[in-house]
Amino acid sequence: MNFLIKLDDNIWISDGDAVSWYGMAYTTRMTIVKLKDGKLWVHSPGKIIEEMIDEIKSLGQVSYLVSPNKIHHLFINDWINVFPNAISYSSPGLREKRKDISFDKDLSDAPEQEWEAEIDQVIFKGSSAMEEVVFFHKTSRVLILTDLIENFHPNHFSGYKKVIAKLTGIVSPNGKTPLDWRASFIFGKSEARKSLAKIISWKPNKIVISHGECIYSNATEFLLKSFKWVGLKKTD
Ligand SMILES: [Fe+2]
Repeated sequence: MNFLIKLDDNIWISDGDAVSWYGMAYTTRMTIVKLKDGKLWVHSPGKIIEEMIDEIKSLGQVSYLVSPNKIHHLFINDWINVFPNAISYSSPGLREKRKDISFDKDLSDAPEQEWEAEIDQVIFKGSSAMEEVVFFHKTSRVLILTDLIENFHPNHFSGYKKVIAKLTGIVSPNGKTPLDWRASFIFGKSEARKSLAKIISWKPNKIVISHGECIYSNATEFLLKSFKWVGLKKTD
């Protein structure tokens, strides 16, 4: 069985089982980039499955374990156990939240030296609740988001959960930042606009997200529509 789906040269995704998020079944997705030196960069590492790990090892050496935001941390310790020599990176606020995880480094608002030639990054600012670190794989022009856009298939949820999903704005093709998180940007919209402007300046052609359907065409148009709530102006 193939656990990895190749998106482009040196970038793969792997879809995982759902985890429960306030009772909602959230399917998960991790992203793997192979750097020119053969080292693997793993974004939002998912539940460990032995066959999947074998497949990953056949690509290269797992070297960097990246938690993109403070609610994506469930499996990091398992990965550190399997790959003790990999460097682990905390997202803003996670080191304080998960004191049991010994992160090696903290992600910042600029790409880490280890991958700056191939992957750019920015912290999406403006929320009083959570900051997500956003990544861009330069050669494939794939933008890697986590929860900033959630985009579930219209039939993914049923019953009252379907209603909640629609109300919170996380249903395809109109997926966006979930309503409760959007609300926490009330005093930070201008910061959010700056972050979004940076992301748009990368001119991504695909968007990988952690929950729901990825965006494989018209990525910039999708971003502008999805992030209308930050009020991006032409001058930003
Ligand atoms: Fe998430």
